[in-house]
Amino acid sequence: MTRVLVLNGPNLGRLGVREPDVYGTASHADLVVAVQAWGRELGLEVEVRQTDDESELVGWLHGAVDTGTHVVLNPAAFTHYSYALRDAAAQVTRAGLTLVEVHLSNPAAREEFRHLSVVAGVATGTVAGFGLLSYALALRAVAAREVDVGA
Ligand code: DQA
Repeated sequence: MTRVLVLNGPNLGRLGVREPDVYGTASHADLVVAVQAWGRELGLEVEVRQTDDESELVGWLHGAVDTGTHVVLNPAAFTHYSYALRDAAAQVTRAGLTLVEVHLSNPAAREEFRHLSVVAGVATGTVAGFGLLSYALALRAVAAREVDVGA
């Protein structure tokens, strides 16, 4: 079965209480339930993790490379400045694995500092602005790439 790690960065553990007007009212626990259900529908083995720690996130990306696991990554604020995360994400895609950058909000429509993603250039692609559905679309992309090698 195709394995996918869904990795959430800093402050995403606060979903539901953190700026619900921007990020919605679903908690991180709700996100885990939804993402696992979408994974099952798509025949993917999905594991969801969240950390506020950059080095832990980097380590999880190294683990994905070493185990041949695709990644759906919401780097949260690290998106905008973490070259360490970018370098780790690059190793995932260089290994031939899919890495989809996801965002609940649409950073391009928000403050200027959110317009730059240092991760986007090494990701397979990005899904942003659809709330929790961004994760559903990202998982669908991973699953589709597994069957459609022409894409
Ligand atoms: C976010 C967007 C980032 O700019 C922000 O720092 C986050 C969440 C999103 O999912 O919309 O923490 O990645």
